[in-house]
Amino acid sequence: MTILVRKIGAGFIGTGNIALLHTLGYKECPDAEIVALCDLNQKRAIAFREEAGLPASVKVYKDVRELCRDDRVDMVEILTPHASHELLAVQAAEAGKHVSVQKPPAMTLSSYDRMVDAARKAGVRFRVFENFRYHPPYVRAFELIRDGVIGQVKAVNMRMWVSIGTSGDYRGQKYRIPFHTLLWKNTDYHNYKANALFDDGYHKHSMIQGLIPQPVTDVIVWCGWQRVLKGMPKIDSPAVVVYQTRKSDCYGTLNVNEVPSLPLHSNYFTCDEFLEITGSTGIIMVTGCSGDLFAGCEAGGPGKPGVYWFSKEDGDIPPFPGAGSWKSDCGMPTDWSHSFIDCTRHFASCLARDEWFDENDPRPLWAERGRKILQLTLATVRSLRTGGTKVRVASIVDGPGVEAEPEKEQHGEPEEAEMATDDDAEEKETE
Ligand SMILES: NC(=O)c1ccc[n+]([C@@H]2O[C@H](COP(=O)([O-])OP(=O)(O)OC[C@H]3O[C@@H](n4cnc5c(N)ncnc54)[C@H](O)[C@@H]3O)[C@@H](O)[C@H]2O)c1
Repeated sequence: MTILVRKIGAGFIGTGNIALLHTLGYKECPDAEIVALCDLNQKRAIAFREEAGLPASVKVYKDVRELCRDDRVDMVEILTPHASHELLAVQAAEAGKHVSVQKPPAMTLSSYDRMVDAARKAGVRFRVFENFRYHPPYVRAFELIRDGVIGQVKAVNMRMWVSIGTSGDYRGQKYRIPFHTLLWKNTDYHNYKANALFDDGYHKHSMIQGLIPQPVTDVIVWCGWQRVLKGMPKIDSPAVVVYQTRKSDCYGTLNVNEVPSLPLHSNYFTCDEFLEITGSTGIIMVTGCSGDLFAGCEAGGPGKPGVYWFSKEDGDIPPFPGAGSWKSDCGMPTDWSHSFIDCTRHFASCLARDEWFDENDPRPLWAERGRKILQLTLATVRSLRTGGTKVRVASIVDGPGVEAEPEKEQHGEPEEAEMATDDDAEEKETE
């Protein structure tokens, strides 16, 4: 048994919107603690230290080079806009710090490879922070599949609903997506102007590939390009992604619907997800992820967030002996924050014990796994930018390979393209 002389010291690079969720796993964590913060915006970092309840002994740096010189920092969490990840990860790795980088880890495969190479050369650990694979109900779905409860997985279908006017408690309304965050998220440089399929898509492609037993070989994207906020570029929603494998009876789909006025409840981002997995002898449904859209839908529907599965009965269980029946498990933590806590602690625990991830564990994205998901993600961006052409995942050797012109994509205008305001409503009435 390894006895820890001191806890692993974590340094956050970037103290913006997502950073607070990253602090949760360090609370009462036996293996690691936050010792330093770094942000180009020092005021934000200082305010963050206070909001997160971190002690004054947690140093605040403006320049990553200063943080890299801090001997108490053993690992960094890179929580900055995507295109800045490479430079920061390479600097940290070269300074001997282990690297955990938020998704999507990089804009291109070559950029990703430079981070991984730097970590390899420095002898430090590298992983992509992809928390959906750690969401406890999704972990339960992985276990059910591993135990053969629904036989061979044939299809994985994921749905996502996104709204604007969401209610929820976490940090209050004003912090949902701050303006400074929205600004870079809508650029080509940092996000390929593809919030749904690149930025958030990395999570979804990761889950779908994680659950499908075959490698995804091709993707096809249909997108309706919708403008939900006046003055902002159109977004890649509604969108449907079809994931093909070499087997014609094994595939995945993702369906994203941004419906600005949907009255959705989420304590975190203004969205929720629904996962449905069809196997050769059963079905798994997982409700509730970033939000809890199904809460209250108890009348015969899957009301509580959790895992529901329909599978074959061996015995004489009525009403259909020998047929299937529904079971459920809603006993695990279902709040989305647990995906962050568990993802944080898994890396910390490996570092503290000088162990590494088990390759049979479907959750962690170490270097090779994280790269495959990035390649798949970039394939969806290529399909998105080429009007829905079928893209072979292996054909992606660096970036998506196509310039963005999403504003010019024509699939017909949606009927209610813009978020209606009270002023708009008044104008319509007087017309
Ligand atoms: N896992 C999830 O569910 C999830 C959710 C949201 C964001 N993210 C990821 O987290 C990352 C950050 O997103 P965010 O929403 O917090 O962005 P943000 O804009 O709110 O915060 C980024 C912070 O990084 C700082 N920064 C930028 N460049 C820097 C540099 N070179 N050195 C130090 N600080 C720098 C900015 O000043 C800002 O405070 C992104 O990669 C994003 O995809 C993940």
